[in-house]
Amino acid sequence: DRGLAKLRIRLYELNREAARYYHGVLLSAQGRAGMEYFEKRALAPKTISRFGLGYAPSDRFSLVNYLRKKGFSEQEMIQANVAFSSRNGHAIDRFHDRVMFPIIDLRGNVIAFGGRILGQGEPKYLNTSDTPIFSKGRNLFAMNFAKDYAEPYLVLCEGYMDVIALHQAGFQNAVAGLGTALTPEQARLIAHYTKEVVASYDADAAGQKAASRSIPLLREAGLTVRILVVPDGKDPDEFIRTHGESGHARFQQLLDSCGNDVEYRLTKLKKDINVQTPEGKIHYLNEAAAVLSALDSDIEREVYAGKLADEAGIQRAAVLQQVKMLREKKQ
Ligand code: GTP
Ligand code: MN
Ligand code: MN
Ligand code: MN
Ligand code: MN
Repeated sequence: DRGLAKLRIRLYELNREAARYYHGVLLSAQGRAGMEYFEKRALAPKTISRFGLGYAPSDRFSLVNYLRKKGFSEQEMIQANVAFSSRNGHAIDRFHDRVMFPIIDLRGNVIAFGGRILGQGEPKYLNTSDTPIFSKGRNLFAMNFAKDYAEPYLVLCEGYMDVIALHQAGFQNAVAGLGTALTPEQARLIAHYTKEVVASYDADAAGQKAASRSIPLLREAGLTVRILVVPDGKDPDEFIRTHGESGHARFQQLLDSCGNDVEYRLTKLKKDINVQTPEGKIHYLNEAAAVLSALDSDIEREVYAGKLADEAGIQRAAVLQQVKMLREKKQ
């Protein structure tokens, strides 16, 4: 469709101008609060320019006025979701008083923004809604950079700041989802560039739940999955910042030593169950057998059944029997 193709080109141009505007504001006196915010989060000027970070001022029409001068219509601004329509039909800036993270596609087009509030408040992050050029479930933040560093593995985190801190510390293979649960499309996008992914979600309960949910999607995309849980601080950004100069080496250690998804799930089970009592041990073994029963590979099931059996001091055949029974029940 010619009309849609034309519209999309206009929206790419519009988003690029908007990113240029927000970045310019950040570097000007008007963007002082934003710059101070990024300094507080230990971002170097080089990082700020590489990611094209910006600042949206508090005025209601600053971007709208800028884009109008560049020849864009209010309708286009609303379609790009950088503005919304007021009651009397006028376009109003969508982002106010937020530091801005441009989201860039694989071809280098700016397709959307995430905007973070400087202090407390809701929503903490405001993102572009889906538009004719943006679908949040089909993109990953920083894949435009990370695709060239995807071997031997990509690092999948939760937040923009995690990715930026990791890149700044030398891990240019980091990407993040865009504030929603991982989608099959995103898992396939990762699998398009590499065979292995290390998921490093936030260490809090929400992050760990999200990590667990992402495992089957990543596996289904054909990826080998490892899970990294940061020990100090609640996410990779905080970990890197906490360790300062040694941040790179410490995170590299975590990357080198973190286990795969099955080990992660078994460790997690064990933490939640008191295996000191016979009942607890049986409960743990049953739950663990359920984890193994979901594995498609005979070899994988054999290997982990062996490990579990050794650990519990029982016969491997007993574990495998239970796994087999659960698999038959599922059919
Ligand atoms: P910082 O506090 O800046 O370090 O952010 P964070 O990335 O650690 O935040 P958090 O762990 O809460 O969220 C992870 C990611 O989820 C963010 O980077 C956003 O993409 C998204 N997110 C967080 N809060 C919101 C929100 O209020 N609304 C939306 N739409 N997305 C959010
Ligand atoms: Mn949140
Ligand atoms: Mn979180
Ligand atoms: Mn964080
Ligand atoms: Mn976080």
